[in-house]
Amino acid sequence: MPPVPHRIPDLVQPASIAAQHWDPERYRRNASFVPELGRDVLAWLAPAPGERILDLGCGDGALTVVLAQICAVLGVDQSADQVAAARRRGLEALVVDGAQLGFDNEFDAVFSNAALHWMRDADAVIAGVWRSLKPGGRFVAEMGGAGNVAAVIAALERALRRRGIDPLPANPWYFPSPEEYRAKLVQRGFAVERMQLLPRPTLLPGPLGDWLDTFAESFLALVPGEGRQAVKAEVEDALRERLFDATRGWTADYVRLRFAAVKAA
Ligand code: BEZ
Repeated sequence: MPPVPHRIPDLVQPASIAAQHWDPERYRRNASFVPELGRDVLAWLAPAPGERILDLGCGDGALTVVLAQICAVLGVDQSADQVAAARRRGLEALVVDGAQLGFDNEFDAVFSNAALHWMRDADAVIAGVWRSLKPGGRFVAEMGGAGNVAAVIAALERALRRRGIDPLPANPWYFPSPEEYRAKLVQRGFAVERMQLLPRPTLLPGPLGDWLDTFAESFLALVPGEGRQAVKAEVEDALRERLFDATRGWTADYVRLRFAAVKAA
């Protein structure tokens, strides 16, 4: 008997894309490694007493508090829940869209950890950072770079396509190459002093499914109810051999882009 052809379903465009929702408690449980690993980039920032620094995408302020021990710092984030959590730490924090920064020549440095990849209008973000900085001010950041969580994204997209869902419109992330981000910074007038793309396989505190719940909400929201568990299980099955180790657990294929740039004096 001839083999039955495997039918690939027509892909359906989702009617609307759910926005990522940040639950500070879930974030603390599943993602406290994010501020922890972001400490390295603080060395590039080299904050000094007497400076005023803007922490762009401060989240719940876990890293902002470290800065606040050294200098004056304002945290901004698009999530009201995360800003509330940052304020509970005693930090000055505001709900602000990173693509619409309204500051003018106010900061000695703008710092950002693991936030810029959520801001897809990078040109608007860079222009706002430029306006926010005093002449000579530094823009120092770490974000997901080209190839970040590529295996996870590929498995997630496959699981959705198998259900006839087009995953592309749900992708909220911008993971640029060094060349691409450097060109944007230079175009706005920054001098790029250092830039590195670093593969950084990252041990997760729990199952990959919990990471998907925390970070990939807009993809999972495309699948109704019970189907989400099945998608998460399918992604885990697809990646177990590559990203899971029985003693250490799950490791995500993170790639970071780190840079330090200066606004000419
Ligand atoms: C990251 O910080 O690398 C990251 C955040 C959200 C989704 C994927 C990666």
